[in-house]
Amino acid sequence: MERQFRIYRYNPEVSPTPSFKTYTVDVQPAWTVLDALNAIKWDQDGSLTFRRSCRHGICGSCGMKINGKNGLACEIQVESLKGVITVEPLHGFRILRDLVTDMDGFFAHIEAVKPWLIAGTPPTDGERLQSPEDRKQLDGLYECILCGACTSACPSYWVNDDFLGPAALLKAARYVMDTRDEGFAERVDVLDSRNGLWRCHTIFNCVEACPKSLNPTEAIVKLRQKLTALKI
Ligand code: SF4
Ligand code: F3S
Ligand code: FES
Repeated sequence: MERQFRIYRYNPEVSPTPSFKTYTVDVQPAWTVLDALNAIKWDQDGSLTFRRSCRHGICGSCGMKINGKNGLACEIQVESLKGVITVEPLHGFRILRDLVTDMDGFFAHIEAVKPWLIAGTPPTDGERLQSPEDRKQLDGLYECILCGACTSACPSYWVNDDFLGPAALLKAARYVMDTRDEGFAERVDVLDSRNGLWRCHTIFNCVEACPKSLNPTEAIVKLRQKLTALKI
């Protein structure tokens, strides 16, 4: 079936002004938006630029705005979308070219929260064991694929891109809530900073945007509770 895709185009080497270009694609059954973008790139316009890798919703590289909602191009079926399909880069990040955004700041914020296990005490029996119950506490925190859809949807981030953002805060919670981790004190300075936890105004856009159905807002609340308990 023929479908039309209206795609954001921007190449600063050619023009400082972005524009939209519409392509007609013969979409096959069960195609995703990524399949259609690939078809455009391979058969119609090799200059169309976008990120993708795994094609299975795992690598997080194909985050973009599709018909006004953030999502993964490789997970959204064309059949599920009505009318002309508009594809834009993730909002809130600097656009480098077409659908490719500058994610350096996003990953710098992830790194700032020290996304690794910090444990000073020696492991027992050579391993850092965790009970099934304690491991369960990490459900909803560890599955993030770093696609950026949540941070891109956050108004607090739009007005201040120094704000850590929901993805970095969810990542912080993944380690802070891990019973094997002893690094909360090392993360407090960045979490409690002027661009940390308190910049979130509980707007919930991040929850709606997450293609993995994660809840960064809940993670932020848990971090606030832990920080508050530390200060009492
Ligand atoms: Fe993407 Fe969800 Fe992780 Fe945000 S929390 S980066 S939307 S997977
Ligand atoms: Fe932004 Fe999510 Fe908080 S959208 S303001 S991080 S609840
Ligand atoms: Fe990897 Fe879409 S290509 S998540």
